Amino acid sequence: MYCYRKVTDDLYWIGANDHRLALFENVHPIPRGVSYNSYVLLDEKTVLFDTVDWSACRQFLENLEAVLDGRPLDYMVINHMEPDHAASIEEVLIRYPGVKVISTEKAFLLMGQFGFIVDDNKIEVKEGDTFSFGKHNVAFVEAPMVHWPEAMVTFDTTNGVLFAADAFGSFGALDGRLFADEVNFDRDWLDDARRYYTNIVGKYGPFVQALLKKAGGLDIKYICPLHGPVIRKDFGYFIDKYDKWSSYEPEEKGVLIAYASMYGNTEAAACLLASKLCEKGMTNVALHDVSNTHVSYLIADAFKYSNIVLASVTYNLGIYPVMHNFLMDMKALNLQKRTVAIIENGSWACKSGTLMRNFLDEEMKEMTILDEQVTMASSLNEGNMADMDALADRIIESMNL
Ligand code: FEO
Repeated sequence: MYCYRKVTDDLYWIGANDHRLALFENVHPIPRGVSYNSYVLLDEKTVLFDTVDWSACRQFLENLEAVLDGRPLDYMVINHMEPDHAASIEEVLIRYPGVKVISTEKAFLLMGQFGFIVDDNKIEVKEGDTFSFGKHNVAFVEAPMVHWPEAMVTFDTTNGVLFAADAFGSFGALDGRLFADEVNFDRDWLDDARRYYTNIVGKYGPFVQALLKKAGGLDIKYICPLHGPVIRKDFGYFIDKYDKWSSYEPEEKGVLIAYASMYGNTEAAACLLASKLCEKGMTNVALHDVSNTHVSYLIADAFKYSNIVLASVTYNLGIYPVMHNFLMDMKALNLQKRTVAIIENGSWACKSGTLMRNFLDEEMKEMTILDEQVTMASSLNEGNMADMDALADRIIESMNL
């Protein structure tokens, strides 16, 4: 049975929610599910904007058929051909063989690689091209690396709708809600939006910045992303978040403490530092055990906070493997401009502090590493207390520079 919602008078959301997928991209946990958004415009011509993941194809086709209500489908605009949005293209072509597919040259190339065959139906567009569907005129804006190289966004100059592809997306199933102003976004969605952005698109900040600059010149009334709620109010709030994330500026003064502990002693040191920070007035502290926190949550908090503390045991004369993985992920996602403090632990040949310091210094960009450090021999002792106090003081001081 169909399930769709109106975005504007003649534009419909016909996507689907997925509560059964455990790992987005087979990597990132999505306990609140995810939505695959697709939209249909009913103008003199009918236009589909993107499709959905194969797993949601049946629901999507029923929605499409219901909204078209007997009309043929004339055009399909593919803003982003990654399979979570494009896997249902062929199914649409089978049911609506006259449909013309509008996309970029690179997108058609990648569609061919994935086996989404549209050869006889394609219309290739590039930056600045325009198209009229009747009352509605659209302009195509290339958005390379947001999040794949073929991506574009489509702007409806008639009613100010921006079909934003992966930009402005979020994890989380919509479950009936469609608009960001129908939910308490800041309380219930922001964490998932941040985790989606930072882990999926985070590496490509300069490209998102370029898109934000282009979008700054448009009179946008609606932002229709491919995942998560449609935005029609409070644009300043959302653009501020994406601007910060894509320029690697922290959202908040605060401290992520990520610890790697084998027998609880490094954990105890992380907890002690958190207590000292709170006691000294810095209560915006997030404490995570890297061994039981999925790295996507660590990445999201690393983007959120101004300061990071890495507390790690030494393992096989190296950095504890899960902490090393976190470091590698931060590097892969291009995180930069953070102030980092280090707590190291080792029962013999303590190495983790030096190795983490070298990694941050040599492999990452614009990371400030505090000289103050705590070095533990197996467990905390009285001698560490003064160092811990000095570290907490220095972290707070670094925020106020
Ligand atoms: Fe939701 Fe880059 O695909």
